[in-house]
Amino acid sequence: MRLGALELASAYLLSPLESVSDAAFRRLCWSLGAGFTWTEMIRARGLVRNNKSTIDLIDSFDADVPTGVQLMVANEKELAEALAKLDALAASTHPHFRNLRAVDLNFGCPSPEVIRVGAGPALLKRHHKLRAIFEVLQAWKKTTALPIGAVTAKIRLGLNRAELDQQVFLPIVELANELLDGLTVHARHAREESTTPAHWEAFAEIRRRATVPIIGNGDVVSIEAARRVMEGFGCDGVMVARGAIRSPWIFRELTGRGAGLPTVAELDAAQNEWTRRATELGSKPKYFEWHAEGFRRLRARLSGAAASGPELPSNEHMR
Ligand SMILES: Cc1cc2nc3c(=O)[nH]c(=O)nc-3n(C[C@H](O)[C@H](O)[C@H](O)COP(=O)(O)O)c2cc1C
Repeated sequence: MRLGALELASAYLLSPLESVSDAAFRRLCWSLGAGFTWTEMIRARGLVRNNKSTIDLIDSFDADVPTGVQLMVANEKELAEALAKLDALAASTHPHFRNLRAVDLNFGCPSPEVIRVGAGPALLKRHHKLRAIFEVLQAWKKTTALPIGAVTAKIRLGLNRAELDQQVFLPIVELANELLDGLTVHARHAREESTTPAHWEAFAEIRRRATVPIIGNGDVVSIEAARRVMEGFGCDGVMVARGAIRSPWIFRELTGRGAGLPTVAELDAAQNEWTRRATELGSKPKYFEWHAEGFRRLRARLSGAAASGPELPSNEHMR
């Protein structure tokens, strides 16, 4: 699959995942077949304010693994400042930022805190504002010294049911055609729980209008689901979140290289390697907590024992 100037090794992308997507996890998913990976959502405001804990989340140390940074912005000024900051840090104190290959903008996060400041899905129907934001991103891509091959956005189908019915996403497809290299569409509106069935019927019109690659997102947990999204609904690629959290080996299944679940020996080796890398790269404690639990649940699944409690460690993105 091609995304801007990037030739992806597969059409299966690892989602940006808060508290999950550290460099060591991205390498694991990439080694199993993910064609591209994203950092977790980075708040542009934190970057602009030089907030160390925000900057540390851009852990793009691993030059082998194709990685982009996902930014959460409230307006075009904030984006311009954040991108200038990225350039400055890459040129001085943070040489590993030079490994970044793409920038994605998040318009899907359902967090009330994000929506309250007018960011994320609150921007979906503000098409003039979105145009201004996309123009800043496109102009930066042409001038930055970073090897950015693609600029993209990740949207939902609207802030709520009314916006979905108004198809606020269609003008965004047109904007993406003009100003972006790809568009990821999470097939739900922002008030929907992740258990609500995805609205794939919206993709017929999206597909008809799009000239850029469309990446479908929502409930891809098997090769059959991925086929339906690509062949049935015409998506060029698929973005996987919970399926990869449950078992990173889903990328092996999707790319036709083997089973979607590891053997116990493969899991042992992967967990040891993840721990070694995460320790070496100084991953934040939250990633250790998440993955310790994730590996434990996967191990329980392999041994046939039901993991106790909710199916995944919880996070507000999983409402
Ligand atoms: C733990 C967790 C963290 C997430 N963090 C982000 C994030 O940082 N940025 C983003 O755009 N979406 C984030 N999401 C949403 C997913 O990228 C994805 O859109 C959603 O889970 C639907 O895909 P799925 O059905 O494959 O899980 C997160 C989801 C989960 C479960």
